[in-house]
Amino acid sequence: MPAKKIYFYPDPYLRQTNQSIIEINEDVRELAQDLLDTMNKVSGLGLAAPQVGVNKKMFVMDCSPKRNNSRVFINPTILKTSEETETSEEGCLSFPDQFAEITRPSSCHISYSDLEGHIQEGHFEGLEARCVQHEIDHLNGILFIDHLSKLKKKNLVKKLDKQLLKDHRKSMEPKYSIRRHNEQKN
Ligand code: NI
Repeated sequence: MPAKKIYFYPDPYLRQTNQSIIEINEDVRELAQDLLDTMNKVSGLGLAAPQVGVNKKMFVMDCSPKRNNSRVFINPTILKTSEETETSEEGCLSFPDQFAEITRPSSCHISYSDLEGHIQEGHFEGLEARCVQHEIDHLNGILFIDHLSKLKKKNLVKKLDKQLLKDHRKSMEPKYSIRRHNEQKN
């Protein structure tokens, strides 16, 4: 399965409502494979369906150093997060080359469905906890920049615009399309 195009901020796909997956069918299995292939191609830690232009509640993750622990999460819900928080640098495949210090609960407990349609629970700590929360945010239309102050958010978006313009000029054939829309938040 070829890797899919990753949509960059501020593409509207990233803010749209994501539908729950009702039935595990061929389309759902194909979406999971597309997400895995796309994440692995760019060595990402996680990727959510809206980032490849599919507004459904699914994400994939592989935070293992050897990249041999990829997992698929369908309709994930956070059941509990720790009171203890952790601040660490975070990035997102929809914000190429942009990073920011983000504070999140240091561990989380979630429920989700696997690809066989079985409901599972999972407890995550450290980098995985951060990744799981980041990806579940995506499924709720929330982006990592939403955790920043208004000023830091503005600066990061400005830097991203410059970066995307530079990449755009460098390539004769654009790898992405920028579909502008008005971000109403803040
Ligand atoms: Ni992301």
